[in-house]
Amino acid sequence: MNVDQYIATLPKNIMSGDDVSLPDKTIHRLLNFAKLKSGETFCHLGCGSGYALQIAKQYGAHVCGVDINESRVQEAGRTLGDDADVRVGDVRWCDIPSSDVILFWFADPSITHVMPQRFSKLDDNVRIITIWGPLPGCLPNSVQFPFVLNVTPLRSAPDIKSQIQAVFGVSCISYGTAWEYAERYTKALQPEDAQNDRFLTILQALTIWYSAYSLGVTCEDNIPESVSTYTTIMSRFFGIDFGHYNP
Ligand SMILES: C[S@@+](CC[C@H](N)C(=O)[O-])C[C@H]1O[C@@H](n2cnc3c(N)ncnc32)[C@H](O)[C@@H]1O
Repeated sequence: MNVDQYIATLPKNIMSGDDVSLPDKTIHRLLNFAKLKSGETFCHLGCGSGYALQIAKQYGAHVCGVDINESRVQEAGRTLGDDADVRVGDVRWCDIPSSDVILFWFADPSITHVMPQRFSKLDDNVRIITIWGPLPGCLPNSVQFPFVLNVTPLRSAPDIKSQIQAVFGVSCISYGTAWEYAERYTKALQPEDAQNDRFLTILQALTIWYSAYSLGVTCEDNIPESVSTYTTIMSRFFGIDFGHYNP
């Protein structure tokens, strides 16, 4: 089974991210990274039942959110009270509420690809936080991986290499870099007591490295020994195959 087939066996909501909520510490880290201040407006696109908005309220922020799921929006409205502006809508075409900081955590390309165009119509100096990567085609303003800050007016990236350089701070991806960033990502998104950190880090590091390899942006010209060792472990003990990533 290759890694894409393995991922396809996971429950649908895990892959869509629909039921994934960020741990408290991660929300605090990202709000601090965004330098959210009292009196500013924080808007969560894809806010679900509004958990990140509850935490943002503790910073003295006005909060707003949009989500496609009506029952979650109702729940958010109940917990956040009347002063929160939470609406049902599809982020691809709803009005984006006027805000200082926006959290936009989507991976679905049918959503992410239309957003730079939509965000480019916002006022200047809106801080848009994405998780894991910048907005498609954009050069981030700063990165505290896995959090990425994109400020309007958005800057366009000349090519994938400049995006990689901006996100990973390097001009090519070594397996060491892939591992370090995989670990940061896993730690940021997992609850404190997670038992499967190591497995996810290996899976994520191989995914980063092989993706970089197929784009021709790894530092290594050939598959390094550590990558082939982990690839063999994944294949032999977990039945997950990365071979199809090879160019
Ligand atoms: C972590 S977000 C991202 C999930 C998304 N499927 C993806 O990977 O791009 C999950 C939240 O976004 C909401 N959501 C999914 N698609 C949406 C859309 N097109 N517009 C607004 N909210 C959406 C879900 O109801 C859920 O509360």
